[in-house]
Amino acid sequence: MVAPLQDPVTLLELGCGSGEKIALLAEALRSRRRRVAIHLIDISPTALELSERTLGALEHVSVVGHRATYEEGLRHAARERPPHGGLLVLFLGSNIGNFDPPASHDFLSEIRQAMRPGDALLLGADLIKPVDQLLLAYNDPLGVTAAFDKNLLVRMNRELGADFDLAAFEHQAIWNPGERRVEMHLVSLRDQSAQIRRAGISVAFEAGESIWTESSYKYEPHEVVELVSAAGFHSHAQWTDPEARFALTLFLAE
Ligand SMILES: C[S@@+](CC[C@H](N)C(=O)[O-])C[C@H]1O[C@@H](n2cnc3c(N)ncnc32)[C@H](O)[C@@H]1O
Repeated sequence: MVAPLQDPVTLLELGCGSGEKIALLAEALRSRRRRVAIHLIDISPTALELSERTLGALEHVSVVGHRATYEEGLRHAARERPPHGGLLVLFLGSNIGNFDPPASHDFLSEIRQAMRPGDALLLGADLIKPVDQLLLAYNDPLGVTAAFDKNLLVRMNRELGADFDLAAFEHQAIWNPGERRVEMHLVSLRDQSAQIRRAGISVAFEAGESIWTESSYKYEPHEVVELVSAAGFHSHAQWTDPEARFALTLFLAE
């Protein structure tokens, strides 16, 4: 994955999370005796701290954290990179699936504009699979995704002075075959209303009405290539796991 990059190498991760994945690539560069500058972009200060700690042990690496949205962080980091050398942008964990197709195209074009010809983009994407397998990940038996979904209400209560009754909403994940996406909803279990004090609004729900909290688009491997190629890249290599559940594709900027 790092072989096509010219020295000095810059790695940049959009939404770095814990930083464990970018650390693996930085390790691969160490074994090739190459120094590397890393830009970490995340909206979450906790994620940045964790990633900086993960990478702190690598002495051939210099790290700059950007607490920013993907777009702002990308613009800052692009301005700071050296005039020569290769850049590898990582957008992993299937985060691209949270964008609808027109927004994906716009976002990938923005990434492309921050890059130079020959720079690389490594993109993770969740692949289409049998519906029962797709939904199991969003209706997991331990209720992890349900808790993640309801955390939106917890945060609105805490940070926006809202009064959502958590027990009166149920997490639901459905596969929308026409749009090829998993949708997560919080379904109101009764007629009710909630105040969101800091937004100065009150929202009424009928029983069965839902808050649509997230979409996660799924792709065929060739669709990933088509989507990204339309933004000014060509595909260099693609890897899938043996069950073809997930694809990692390496693109080069044209
Ligand atoms: C699902 S985690 C993925 C972490 C890592 N890339 C991986 O694949 O394991 C998504 C990360 O993106 C960050 N994030 C989500 N939306 C963001 C945005 N619009 N701008 C910047 N960071 C964002 C979150 O804080 C989180 O750390």
